[in-house]
Amino acid sequence: MSSSIFRDSLLGGKVAVITGGGSGINLGIAKRFAEHKARVVLIGRKQEKLDAAIAEITAAGGVAMGLSADVRDFAALGIVFAKTREAYGEIDIVICGAAGNFPAPAIGMSANAFKAVVDIDLLGTFNTCRAAYEHLRKPGASIINISAPQALAPMLFQSHVCAAKAGVDMITRTLAMEWGPTGVRVNSIVPGPTADTEGMRRLAPSPESAEKLKQFVPLQRFGTKDELADLAVFLCSDAAAYITGAVVLCDGGQSLVGSGVWTQALMGK
Ligand code: COA
Repeated sequence: MSSSIFRDSLLGGKVAVITGGGSGINLGIAKRFAEHKARVVLIGRKQEKLDAAIAEITAAGGVAMGLSADVRDFAALGIVFAKTREAYGEIDIVICGAAGNFPAPAIGMSANAFKAVVDIDLLGTFNTCRAAYEHLRKPGASIINISAPQALAPMLFQSHVCAAKAGVDMITRTLAMEWGPTGVRVNSIVPGPTADTEGMRRLAPSPESAEKLKQFVPLQRFGTKDELADLAVFLCSDAAAYITGAVVLCDGGQSLVGSGVWTQALMGK
């Protein structure tokens, strides 16, 4: 069990569905939710990856299952949410974390390449929220959409992700307004540079490049998956009962500095 700022179980009895839950930041959130006594359902494209993640969570004493579906497939999501409800009851938490990315200049990208990322990140987020809606606990359910710094500031070679994630934050705000009257909260988390993630491995492949990038973060370090997970716990807990439609940054102040340094890293400078 990893160390948490919270001493008590804040999500006892809750049911949480997490897309893209088989790895990275989303798996970190899943593990933390299980530690806080939520029953966790991981959704991903590859069953073997989900099985490995579920084995890890259950070995640590958590309750979890994995269901394979592609967030681009609305019908498949409908089946997954129906199965979750059948197994665990009404759904309290949905984390829309499934995402795809690759750095490419616009002229190095086909229309299909742009569409692939928009389909996963933006349409996938809408599909997940929409398919979940009829199964959500009302009032009380909480949705978190995982956004990105690219939603806030343009970044070279990221036209697809910038467009998709800005759209994700607008889904957050719109659904917060539309679903607020039913007692469903919707928020975004914007992770900053986070250690031990695929994104940072690509941006800072060597210890030297990582040290260089850290100097441009006001807190002078990368964040951790545990810190993001604790933010997700807070936003989904009763402690955040009056927070909806918020885009919450967990980035060590990186957004204050801007995206130029990351652009330089992508350009290999
Ligand atoms: N540069 C330019 N185009 C690229 C590319 C790259 N680095 N990588 C993929 N593409 C293009 C493909 O050529 C294809 O376009 P085409 O049909 O015109 O040839 C299009 O993108 C779709 O690729 P495909 O591999 O068929 O899509 P997919 O649905 O299997 O994969 C991706 C989606 C491309 C986003 C893939 O990177 C992915 O699944 N990533 C998931 C993991 C991930 O990105 N994690 C990081 C999250 S921050």
